[in-house]
Amino acid sequence: MIGVRRRVGVLISGRGSNLQALLDAAADPAYPAEISVVISNRADAYGLQRARDAGVPATVIAHDAFASRDAFEIAIDAALRAAGCEIVCLAGFMRILTPEFVNRWPNRILNIHPSLLPAFTGLHVQRRAIESGATIAGCTVHVVTPDLDSGPILAQAAVPVLADDDERALTARILEQEHRLYPAALAWLAEGRVRIDGNRALVTGTEASGALLSPRPEGL
Ligand code: GRF
Repeated sequence: MIGVRRRVGVLISGRGSNLQALLDAAADPAYPAEISVVISNRADAYGLQRARDAGVPATVIAHDAFASRDAFEIAIDAALRAAGCEIVCLAGFMRILTPEFVNRWPNRILNIHPSLLPAFTGLHVQRRAIESGATIAGCTVHVVTPDLDSGPILAQAAVPVLADDDERALTARILEQEHRLYPAALAWLAEGRVRIDGNRALVTGTEASGALLSPRPEGL
């Protein structure tokens, strides 16, 4: 029997490829969440079209149309609640949310970030990963707290950094994993399988797989 599907609002600012991954997952009636509304702070975000193509209401709430950040966030909050959302997914949403907004959705906002947090918070993280000399990079889905890119980590996916990688190549390799990881992590939250313990998010019924070694030593 298919259980209750949690209603999810997705906040975007641009391309929306992660939104697409969530829409695709939610197209399966057995998926434990449905995308109820997509909100963009930019009218030209391609993700809005993706939402409409999937039959999901798409709304523009332009940050620069508001006199203050608070007023902007109150409008977003109202739109999410009007759509009956219980969970919020940030998917390339390029505005920093205030503690007031975050605290209205305790442990119910997820974000996807293209680095293995806590390494490389902020912007241009794929380029910074290459420049750091790291040989493994990846992406993280975490619970959003008032501190930027610092909330409990739900899931991570790792990829190798190859010797001839440029920013574009590494970004593409990480993005492919983002599209696998985000729907899985949202499903865990929607199913009530996530327990927050301090800054750790513990997911019941999951297990780790083998190690990624990069470069891989011969014979291993
Ligand atoms: C992704 O790399 C995501 O990790 C980051 O912003 C990018 C958004 O891409 N937060 P898209 O709009 O989902 O294609």
